[in-house]
Amino acid sequence: MKVVVTGGAGFIGAHLTRALLAAGAEVVVLDDLSTGAVANLAGLPVQLIVGSVTDRTTVEQACLGADSIVHLAARPSVARSLLDPMATHAVNATGTLTVLDVAQRDETHVVVASSSSVYGVGGTLPRTEDAPCRPRSPYAASKLAAEGYALGYRGGFGLPVLAVRLFNVFGPYQSVGHAYAAVVPTFIEAALSGRPLTVHGDGRQTRDFTYVSGVAGTLCDAALRRLSHPDPVNIAFGTRTDLLTVIVELERILGRTLPVRHVEPRSGDVRDSQAGTATLRTLFPDAVGLDLAAALEATVAWYVERGLPGASGVPSAVPSAAGGSAAGASGITSGALTPTVAPARSARTARPTPDAHREHLSDASGG
Ligand SMILES: NC(=O)c1ccc[n+]([C@@H]2O[C@H](COP(=O)([O-])OP(=O)(O)OC[C@H]3O[C@@H](n4cnc5c(N)ncnc54)[C@H](O)[C@@H]3O)[C@@H](O)[C@H]2O)c1
Repeated sequence: MKVVVTGGAGFIGAHLTRALLAAGAEVVVLDDLSTGAVANLAGLPVQLIVGSVTDRTTVEQACLGADSIVHLAARPSVARSLLDPMATHAVNATGTLTVLDVAQRDETHVVVASSSSVYGVGGTLPRTEDAPCRPRSPYAASKLAAEGYALGYRGGFGLPVLAVRLFNVFGPYQSVGHAYAAVVPTFIEAALSGRPLTVHGDGRQTRDFTYVSGVAGTLCDAALRRLSHPDPVNIAFGTRTDLLTVIVELERILGRTLPVRHVEPRSGDVRDSQAGTATLRTLFPDAVGLDLAAALEATVAWYVERGLPGASGVPSAVPSAAGGSAAGASGITSGALTPTVAPARSARTARPTPDAHREHLSDASGG
């Protein structure tokens, strides 16, 4: 079975690619390396196509003969979407439309990654999929558009699609060391560097923190079964943990007290988030999450073993001047990757700052 993973050089993509390979699938990764890194796939027998999901020719080339596409490629940042909504729309909405339109030609199954940010604020917890969506950022709107297009292609053309809403995913390979890094790796990085942990607000805001293995396993299962569903599906395990509890767990793991610095709440920060899991339980009865303590232990161990950003083996979050990750070129030549096939017609030029690309805490309704 051949599976295309767009955004496969990113955080979740790195785990999904490994899960698919372990399941015996042939994997093609399509990634423009804007926030992902070749190093995340080093040594894996995958074909990496460097290009953008907004480039139809490249998408067609990548998806030729595919049985399923897991579409993760996106600009995953609320903050960046506020700075440049058009660019977010181009990748997250139009890029998704391009993937779906190419898939429709060959009736290829597609899994589209949406976000719990589509729920916005208000409403009750847990968030069930039939809850109203009130996007509060261009990013959230772009994700709502993406899942809307996916379900529209299902309804209009009978394309087998699954739209999944991810919550606050964390674990190894998550980038850190930039302005919008996610909260868990940011806490870990600060703790390992001996800096105070910065908490926006009182730290009592809650999130459905989801260890990446459960997400990757579920996405892998969806692709292998070519699962299709008429409505979006939350992929999270229905937990609700506040930030202070995360810090207490990190203190337990590291065996010392961690200094905390409270700063102003982020504007637009969502107070609480938790997934309703009934649909997940029905469609993926075998899906299991890792409990927070074990998941944080595994994540801390990974960052300790791999070193912090800038150290060998940890992907840089900062795009290189060529639009790819700093680790890119060496990853291609030293790993087991098939050399890059398609130069990105729409390859990016360098952005002026390492302004990044991650849904941060304030996105969190989440993630
Ligand atoms: N991590 C989370 O907590 C979370 C939560 C909700 C939703 N999501 C969604 O899950 C998906 C994966 O997120 P992630 O956390 O792994 O982020 P990531 O930034 O690590 O991965 C995104 C990948 O997409 C690639 N990419 C970006 N623009 C592209 C383009 N135009 N063409 C091809 N590739 C492109 C990047 O280089 C990167 O490898 C995204 O769609 C994101 O919106 C993530």
